[in-house]
Amino acid sequence: MSLMSPRRLVNRSPRARVVAAVLLVVLLTTAAGEQRKDGPVYKDPSAPVPARVADLLGRMTVGEKAGQLAMIHVGRLRSAADLNEVFTQAQVGSILSGGGETPGSDDTPAGWARGINSLQRFALEHSRLGIPIVYGSDATHGFTGARGAEIFPQQLGLGATGDPAVVQALSKVTARVASSAGVRWIFGPVGDVARDLRWGRYYETFGENPAAAGRFVAAVVRGLQGDPDTPAVAATPKHFLGYSQPRNGVDTAPAQLSEAELENVFAPPFGAAIDAGVLTVMNQHGWVNGKPTVASPALLQTLLRDRLGFRGVTLSDWGDVENLFCSCQGAPAVTRMPHYVQDYEHAAAAALDSGLDVSMVPDRALQFTQAVQAAVRDGLVTTATLDAAVSRVLTLKFRLGLFERPYAGIDPRPARTPADRKLALRAAQESLTLLRNARRLLPLAKSGPVLVVGPNADDLSRQYGGWTVGWQGVPQGVQPPPGVTVLAGVRAALGTGKVRTADWTDAAAVRKAARGARAAVVVIGEGPYAEWMGDSPTAALPADQTRLVRAIEAMGLPTVLVLISGRPLMITDLIRRADAFLMAYLPGSEGGTAVANLLFGRAGARGKLPFTWPATIRDVPMALGKRLDGRPATPLFRLGAGLTTRTPT
Ligand code: BGC
Ligand code: BGC
Repeated sequence: MSLMSPRRLVNRSPRARVVAAVLLVVLLTTAAGEQRKDGPVYKDPSAPVPARVADLLGRMTVGEKAGQLAMIHVGRLRSAADLNEVFTQAQVGSILSGGGETPGSDDTPAGWARGINSLQRFALEHSRLGIPIVYGSDATHGFTGARGAEIFPQQLGLGATGDPAVVQALSKVTARVASSAGVRWIFGPVGDVARDLRWGRYYETFGENPAAAGRFVAAVVRGLQGDPDTPAVAATPKHFLGYSQPRNGVDTAPAQLSEAELENVFAPPFGAAIDAGVLTVMNQHGWVNGKPTVASPALLQTLLRDRLGFRGVTLSDWGDVENLFCSCQGAPAVTRMPHYVQDYEHAAAAALDSGLDVSMVPDRALQFTQAVQAAVRDGLVTTATLDAAVSRVLTLKFRLGLFERPYAGIDPRPARTPADRKLALRAAQESLTLLRNARRLLPLAKSGPVLVVGPNADDLSRQYGGWTVGWQGVPQGVQPPPGVTVLAGVRAALGTGKVRTADWTDAAAVRKAARGARAAVVVIGEGPYAEWMGDSPTAALPADQTRLVRAIEAMGLPTVLVLISGRPLMITDLIRRADAFLMAYLPGSEGGTAVANLLFGRAGARGKLPFTWPATIRDVPMALGKRLDGRPATPLFRLGAGLTTRTPT
């Protein structure tokens, strides 16, 4: 059975494509260079976008065109000399904040907007034709780089909600905060499907069901972009394609994937995003079937554009074009790959000729734009290819309205509203997945007292995960964005007097706190991580946490085990011995309230596992109920598992 609707795989004949392209060029060139009485066509907001693009393109030099294909990270802009190189010389068309980078002097949305506006001003003043920049950032669970913004659950938990409507609504909040911060290009949603829990980006996915992931991805695209005529921001499903099943679950390690897997397992979420009108797509860092993705016409041209029908902008991931010829950027696994070409010129050519438009360079602005120009001069890239890429970028900027409104308004209001919080609570509540409830321990009686303990019981940064404030999560020493931990949630539900707690690393203190308690809520799990830093070959619970759970078991208290983590951990024994077991994923700012609601029966359990939970690491990789090597295995919990408890009326 194909998981992808056959409608998606339109095989337009190459001939029809050539004819269409020629027609378009003829139509557009008649418009090019035209002058209206009040200025050039491209400056006329009432002119159709294709005419504006053609007019502008016709006025641009090869150097100016090359600049539109470069995206530089804001950390590269430290001095007047940097600004001069990036904007005056290289004419760079887009800037991004990498994880944890902010453009302004403070990290409020207004601070972001001021920083981005001043870059915009500099760029416009140094652009002969007045072409605005577009500013991009990651935002997969809220606009988490701005202080005060709501921190929603990470995608994996959202995948458990079965509720694309809530995901669309919270994505709309993300777009509101991002655009008020001056950010009009969002690198999300993650369209990768979960395949290997050892991979450090497992939690960024919506789970392993391609069709369900597609529904969520489409919901994010609609929520972020909003009205297709006046998109709030451009969404970017990532990472195209086959990123989530690298060899041995090692981030950016090469992948070997069949055509059928690529089309039926990995492509559907991207197809759904394209159907929802997504404006841009990001490729993945690694190699698939012996070829770097960023230089793969089979993926970027044939599959993405010809078969899935994508018309928008393709964007490389961080440093991918440079990595074709040097071991410069990012994850160890990809920097160990052989060099694909000999120099920057050939790297730029390989990417452009494969269907890439914008390169997330991210540092060497001038080297990149010079490489593009050399590739055109030497005939490695045709003018038609260059123009097609630049046209797509300009189309994006016109559609975002950047020529008319290049500056963000400064909105001093706090980023977070009460309605945002309610949405975060609803999403977290719907995600919680109850996997065991022996002798109907839950809901717990409110008579207390209850012991709440564990490394994830009262630690917001562990509850938020990676890509929150910083790249690897909230940096040490930085106050996490406000939220409710499980301890705080239980205190609010029961009254502080009925809640016992202790430093979980102090066995004697835990024993003392447990005295007289009627039940224990032990909150274990992972700390924050991102990308390769989160790879885990064993997905084991650290030994000190296992000791804590065993010590509580030994006290004979009825115990609810709560796991706050970006992946299923290999804790089969602990789960089987616990009275109740709750998977909370990375539930965001309202996670603690949601857990307390469920524990004490203010809300029923309704989340369903968005992945297959293997009983042992030896069965990994396992997805869609099967070990990927085909050997028989019985999972601990199947895809879709989750007890339903009554929702009080
Ligand atoms: C990640 C992307 C991210 C980009 C910008 C890359 O290393 O793979 O997911 O969008 O950095 O932060
Ligand atoms: C990340 C960026 C991050 C950078 C730091 C990249 O791989 O995706 O967002 O800032 O590494 O080196």
